[in-house]
Amino acid sequence: MDSENREISISNEDAALFINAVKNQSDYDFSDYSDKSLKRRIEKILSDYKTDVYGIVSKMRKEPEFVEKVVKEVTVNTTELFRDVSAWHNIKFRILPKFKDNNVINIWHAGCSTGQEVYSMLILLNELYLLDKAKVYATDINTDVIEVAKKGVYKYRFNIGYLDSFDKVLKENPFNYDEHKDISYSKYFDIDKAQDTIRMKPFLREKPVFRKLDLVKGENIFYTKFDIILCRNVLIYFNNKLQNKVFELFHKSLYDGGYLILGIHESMLGPMTAKFEKKGTNYVKKP
Ligand SMILES: C[S@@+](CC[C@H](N)C(=O)[O-])C[C@H]1O[C@@H](n2cnc3c(N)ncnc32)[C@H](O)[C@@H]1O
Repeated sequence: MDSENREISISNEDAALFINAVKNQSDYDFSDYSDKSLKRRIEKILSDYKTDVYGIVSKMRKEPEFVEKVVKEVTVNTTELFRDVSAWHNIKFRILPKFKDNNVINIWHAGCSTGQEVYSMLILLNELYLLDKAKVYATDINTDVIEVAKKGVYKYRFNIGYLDSFDKVLKENPFNYDEHKDISYSKYFDIDKAQDTIRMKPFLREKPVFRKLDLVKGENIFYTKFDIILCRNVLIYFNNKLQNKVFELFHKSLYDGGYLILGIHESMLGPMTAKFEKKGTNYVKKP
């Protein structure tokens, strides 16, 4: 917990008051978010606004725009380019090659945050000569992060670890250590140390379709099925009931044999496990 909000600790009743206020003032519903992490986010909001739950609820009632702002502050948007290198090795060597003979490869990043996961995928697709046949869709509940994702410009110093992960994923093959490729960063992004930015190349930025989508609603807004759905480090914020609802949505939205890729510390529990074959942290839709 952050040192500044260590002293704020809200009760279940306070959390319920907050959830109901959001529900009454908007079409967002946090009822099935995981209690612990939602409470921590509410505590942080109370600390940032130096108020208590009654103060926040009354501000939400008076200012409808404030609800949208609070909703964005509830979300945790941490992400990285090639986050969890082993997952990307797996995607590169084990998953994407399965779809190489498709005419089209449909990919959905659900909970894409500021887009680094999407650019990681686009870079890999290009390396495997699959970019042209890929259709990449990316969604998040938070429109601020979607705007950042569309721009594809990130802080260089803050994200310096990106280059290390890029090297590991793009240049090395953990299944064959003799293999080593030489790929320059400038093929995919421009680094401007004076401006402190990493800027994704236009051919990558033009490719994905970014849309706002709240997974709580249980809808696939794209009217297409997918070969691969990535939903990494999102479901940890949901309780089992909501996780299961989202697994149902993903099951409906995948082609048979399609892959659901979760975060490396996440796994599927509950009734939907019968409908997928588990391969590590990936789940393949059974026919
Ligand atoms: C920690 S980030 C994960 C980003 C990326 N997938 C990764 O693993 O690096 C979680 C994202 O889930 C989004 N999120 C949270 N609740 C959501 C919901 N109900 N519907 C859609 N996205 C949601 C947040 O806005 C945030 O951007």
